[in-house]
Amino acid sequence: MFVSFEGIDGSGKSTQLNLLREWFEARGHSVMVIREPGATLLSESIREILLSTKQSITPTAELLLFSAARTQLVEKVIQPARTTNTVILCDRYVDSTTAYQGYGRGLDLERVQAINAIATRGVMPDLTFFIDVRYEQAQQRMQFAEGGGEPDRMERAGGDFFNRVRDGYLSIAATEPKRFVVIDGYRERDAIHHDLVSEVERRLTTP
Ligand code: ADP
Ligand code: TYD
Repeated sequence: MFVSFEGIDGSGKSTQLNLLREWFEARGHSVMVIREPGATLLSESIREILLSTKQSITPTAELLLFSAARTQLVEKVIQPARTTNTVILCDRYVDSTTAYQGYGRGLDLERVQAINAIATRGVMPDLTFFIDVRYEQAQQRMQFAEGGGEPDRMERAGGDFFNRVRDGYLSIAATEPKRFVVIDGYRERDAIHHDLVSEVERRLTTP
């Protein structure tokens, strides 16, 4: 099973990913946790470039860099893992590109989809959880996060940008309701986790 986690920065997706990892491991599953961009040397190097505030990056260059990081990850890590019984939990995947570069930066959506298809090689998650909170709530959570520090290049984009990103996620949910599950992120961690587990159990029993 390949599960991805989406949401605006600070929504609580990594928290939920870790709770679900523990849940799978407690049931004897082998679990692989990866993050995007990341998980290969090349992708981690590209991540540094993308998040650094040292230089500006044009929206199209940004799209291609995220996509280059992704395709390396897909070929080197995700595709091999898909041939085993390992559960893959991915902190962000291709929907981030649609939401951030497409809706957020305003790049042409058809072109973004075309690049996404190349980058993923058609490998899509079985299930995607979108942890939905608004920008103001996510900001508040990030302020209290351990090691919160200075905002990275993407986080500097501001409220209007993140509102568009959130709208983008909601549009994806409308077009792909079976794969892309919207989760009310305002609740307590355990209540959200409970919802995720119910959804996973349902998918495991009714493929
Ligand atoms: P993301 O991975 O989406 O950036 P995190 O999981 O790192 O978000 O969470 C951001 C901050 O919000 C962390 O300090 C985390 O402990 C806190 N947090 C996560 N989930 C919740 C929740 N349901 N309610 C309140 N705070 C939360
Ligand atoms: P990260 O720290 O992983 O996200 P978060 O703060 O939510 O834990 O940073 C990755 C950043 O890159 C985040 O702002 C989302 C952005 N991003 C894109 O714009 N497009 C993409 O395709 C991906 C994977 C991430």
